[in-house]
Amino acid sequence: MLSAHLPPIQPLLLALDTPNPEAAWQLANRLMQETPLKGFKVGMSVFYQPGGRQLLHRLHEAGAFIMLDLKLHDIPETVHRSVSALMDLPWHLLTLHALGGFDMLMAAQSVLNKAHLYRALLGVTVLTSHSDKTLHNELGINGSVADAVIRLATMVANAGLGGVVCSPHEIAPIRNHLSPPFKLVTPGIRLADSHVQGDDQLRAATPQTAREAGADFLVVGRPILQDSDPVRACQKILDSLSTEASKHA
Ligand code: C5P
Repeated sequence: MLSAHLPPIQPLLLALDTPNPEAAWQLANRLMQETPLKGFKVGMSVFYQPGGRQLLHRLHEAGAFIMLDLKLHDIPETVHRSVSALMDLPWHLLTLHALGGFDMLMAAQSVLNKAHLYRALLGVTVLTSHSDKTLHNELGINGSVADAVIRLATMVANAGLGGVVCSPHEIAPIRNHLSPPFKLVTPGIRLADSHVQGDDQLRAATPQTAREAGADFLVVGRPILQDSDPVRACQKILDSLSTEASKHA
């Protein structure tokens, strides 16, 4: 089972958005053997397939750091029971929708407070698919996405969770309000020369910019998954991060 010790944590988490759990494992295993990468994000499209749970065990046995991105959102009691049910699985970070509200977040966190393992819950603030207009017209939330993100991130921190998932452009504003060890995890990472087909990451940032703004973890998917040489693409991002780390040493 999950140990109380954290595997070596690097900022890069590869989003295993592959067609199925077996393809996810093949890619993760290859990258762990051929690069120093140890961090992976498993999302619901892979986790809910047959073999999804086994994928987590295989990654964990290989020493991986695992973010389970299930974005839970329900009444507090149901989320409490769901997080309890997931405690049997090896993961280090688990996501919930901050829009579930303070009581839901507290109910989820209370499960972790009783365990003596290294785990953290992350609140997802506002999905990057929303704009000021959809928040207002479809969800009836007034104010900007930026305001909603700060409000939700503050609520997540007040509920005692370990951090939030936010877009690269929201890292600095959140960091102004919430200091480490509160974790900021961001997708939307692109190297200056990366080309992703039909890219829907409207507000992307380079790994260096995101880290300098205060991100703890960077979630990268298609720039590695779609590359004809995923090992090389992954190594390039790891190299760009170690150059940045040595500049700050
Ligand atoms: O865009 P990329 O493939 O690098 O995405 C990595 C992760 O970012 C995905 O697994 C998804 O969770 C998230 N994502 C997002 N907004 C998008 C597209 C993906 O937050 N528009």
